[in-house]
Amino acid sequence: MTGMGGVLGLGVAAQPPQAIHVVAGQNRPPAWPVTPAVRVNLAARGELARIMGELRPGVVIHAACVSRAADCEQQPEHAHKVNIEAVEELLASAVFADSFVVYVSTEQVFDGYAERYFEDSPVSPRTVYGSTKAAAERRVLEFGGAVVRLPLLLGGSAGPGRMGADTAVVQAVRSGRAMSLFTDEIRTPVHVDFVAPMLEKIAREGHTGIFHLAGSQAVSRYELGQRACEVAGVEPNFEASLAAEFDGPPRSLRLELDCERAIKELVWEPPDLRQSLSRTFATPFEAVAND
Ligand SMILES: NC(=O)c1ccc[n+]([C@@H]2O[C@H](COP(=O)([O-])OP(=O)(O)OC[C@H]3O[C@@H](n4cnc5c(N)ncnc54)[C@H](OP(=O)(O)O)[C@@H]3O)[C@@H](O)[C@H]2O)c1
Repeated sequence: MTGMGGVLGLGVAAQPPQAIHVVAGQNRPPAWPVTPAVRVNLAARGELARIMGELRPGVVIHAACVSRAADCEQQPEHAHKVNIEAVEELLASAVFADSFVVYVSTEQVFDGYAERYFEDSPVSPRTVYGSTKAAAERRVLEFGGAVVRLPLLLGGSAGPGRMGADTAVVQAVRSGRAMSLFTDEIRTPVHVDFVAPMLEKIAREGHTGIFHLAGSQAVSRYELGQRACEVAGVEPNFEASLAAEFDGPPRSLRLELDCERAIKELVWEPPDLRQSLSRTFATPFEAVAND
């Protein structure tokens, strides 16, 4: 799996140890002692192919990418290199290594104008981030791999600036930082701990095509913040604002992923918000992050 140093990686690391090699990011030492780890810079052409040739993994779960929309807008060429070209390199080397590829994608491949997005809804990205992820999806599908679209992720802290949306709010409130949350940006968030075993299942059973793995409840960012504070036992202290008036890269207002295929074929049971939030705040996330 690539991207083990990220928020989703936290969920995977929380699973029972797997016989997988961890192809981590290049910036920080991999924190997970349960599996062998390899460092790779996806922006350096040839590194991933070399590692694929050495490891010859049966399956690659590719989660690493430039995942912050603002970073992608500021450095579109870098985003293109890491989010598209590295995927092309991965797929080319997967042919030689005979590896199955599970690609982790995002709801941000959609524009947010529809009531609900299905696995076969046409993609309609509005940002550089969403466009690069949609382009990579297309390549993975042509290759015959699996594409797993995720919603806003909840979970602990995988390092500074890298945390589940619920942890980010609660940390900001605890530190007294001024913050405003959108009341018109609707998401179906889910905790990474629920997603991780599904990724493993898709990989183990070799499912192909597109899957959506989202939570069962659609909430605004503002409501998510309120509920997170409630479960964490802190007093909500933030302003309300409108994404429609946001002065920055375009924001998709309503992103609801329909998970019908995952429910039928993977027996995915979309968790509700309380189930997800309880995961984060029942486990002291500082302890997980520093493990
Ligand atoms: N977080 C969300 O709310 C969310 C929502 C929907 C979908 N997703 C998808 O889920 C996946 C994981 O997201 P995340 O939130 O866990 O991301 P994250 O916390 O930002 O972590 C990104 C990971 O990618 C690695 N990476 C970035 N650039 C790299 C490079 N040049 N070379 C090697 N590794 C590099 C990072 O390595 P370092 O540790 O070395 O920096 C890190 O391990 C992504 O595919 C994302 O599109 C996330």
